[in-house]
Amino acid sequence: MTTTLLTGIGLLATQDDELGELTDAALLITGDRVGWLGPATDAPAADRRLDLAGRCVLPGFVDSHAHLVFAGDRAAEFAARMTGQPYTAGGIRSTVTATRAAGDELLRANLARLAAELHAAGVTTFECKSGYGLDVDTELRSVRLAAEQTSEVTFLGAHVVPAGVDRSDYLDQVRGPMLAACAPHARWVDVFCEAGAFDVAESRAVLQAGIAAGLQPRLHANQLTASGGVQLAVELGAASADHCTHLAPSDIDALAGSSTVATLLPLVEFSTRSPYPDARALLDAGATVALATDCNPGSGFSTSMPLAIALAVREMRMSPAEAVRAATVGGARALRRDDIGRLAVGQRADLVVLDAPSYLHLAYRPGVPLIQQTWIGGVPV
Ligand code: NIG
Ligand code: FE
Repeated sequence: MTTTLLTGIGLLATQDDELGELTDAALLITGDRVGWLGPATDAPAADRRLDLAGRCVLPGFVDSHAHLVFAGDRAAEFAARMTGQPYTAGGIRSTVTATRAAGDELLRANLARLAAELHAAGVTTFECKSGYGLDVDTELRSVRLAAEQTSEVTFLGAHVVPAGVDRSDYLDQVRGPMLAACAPHARWVDVFCEAGAFDVAESRAVLQAGIAAGLQPRLHANQLTASGGVQLAVELGAASADHCTHLAPSDIDALAGSSTVATLLPLVEFSTRSPYPDARALLDAGATVALATDCNPGSGFSTSMPLAIALAVREMRMSPAEAVRAATVGGARALRRDDIGRLAVGQRADLVVLDAPSYLHLAYRPGVPLIQQTWIGGVPV
């Protein structure tokens, strides 16, 4: 197996509880894995050496929440919001119209462009949801296209009830033929549990059907209202409750006492001009927190994990170290993955080289493109 030694690492932020942060470090890539890491003075021989000239290295970001299979955009809806319109779930239906009308080639090209943006932003693993098809054919196309780009595919047939379809007929379709068609191409099932989308009982029924079909649950919870979604996510042992914008103390306690990750999506609060979630209360209570982009054409059309980190620090009072942890190992936990999110021997060699001496610069220099290089499985992309 080919070995590559990254040397001259000014700061290696491993996110591994045993290793922590190393200065003047080196990291050996053996095939697609981390083979060794430690002080540069102890580095082993390697086939190739690359001097990083004092730059910071961290694990690649794990974006555990993204909606990337769609056509069209909603820039006009964003502009209306910035002059006072509220964000509502209803805008999803205009993206559904555009997505149904698009051919596979267009959807594939849009998805590939967004995947390239994510990689350029330091993301090495991303989750991708369906949810802009909302009929059997277009949901199936969506999960198949997503599976071409990632192993973390989520069936989100229960995003909203599409126009012109009876609510209970639609729920039967989602739990029946749509789930049956999509489950072979997906790992996860998700529901938008929210006013204007699906209530707790409906969400529970869809998630239980997904579990019975072999999928694992995750949930859009408490985005616009205290919807009861967080409690449902914990009840069902979901991997993640996402958004968590409106939390009661009992929701925070439930998350802290569970294995359900609280996934926070500050690019959405930024783009919908909403209050940010109480990350401090979650962290102080002991909940596991992840940060993700939620890239989608409606509530937040950004692939910038560095900006999400900067917002988490500036607006949500997370320390820079907590924010980077949430964007790496937190995301891995939200996807129940042990092979990514940390840099340790045997982990996948997914990493980010910053054009900066420390990860502090991600929040200290907001909006500046600091991702010098992204490596996935030991290969620069
Ligand atoms: O996570 N909340 C539900 N889904 C997306 C928004 C979808 C849209 O507005 O198109 C979200 O914010
Ligand atoms: Fe979402």
